[in-house]
Amino acid sequence: MAMRYRLTSVETVLDSGSWLFTARDGRGEDIEVVLVPCEDADSTIEAWINRCTHEDQRLYREGVGVVVRDGGVVCPKHGSIFDSCSGDCENGPADGSTLASIEVTVDDGQVYLTDEDATYLHDGPSADDDADDSGDGPDSTSHLRF
Ligand code: FES
Repeated sequence: MAMRYRLTSVETVLDSGSWLFTARDGRGEDIEVVLVPCEDADSTIEAWINRCTHEDQRLYREGVGVVVRDGGVVCPKHGSIFDSCSGDCENGPADGSTLASIEVTVDDGQVYLTDEDATYLHDGPSADDDADDSGDGPDSTSHLRF
């Protein structure tokens, strides 16, 4: 049986709208992963790497979390919306792309990390903050308001 690590409860993700943790991938890189609600019948929580597919932009931002609108994760930089359940984007600059997923499993109201290529490190953001969006928000060209 594959290893699994308990991340948080489904209730916590639903209450807050999203939940961030940091893991180490199979290449030894630290990655931020965000849990978001998915309303598909067979899945209540999905996990996506906290990066837009268009540019190196975090989807989850401190103090804001992930903006989910009409079942979609909204990129704060240019507004592309990714389906919360499939990760697919069919609009905006990220059109035709899909968020990178991390495998999680929901069991008895708890969310477990079950991806063989990801090892849990800690709750919250990565300490490595050298991304080009160091302001952690939309750049000055963004016209989005939440
Ligand atoms: S950075 Fe996300 S749509 Fe451009």
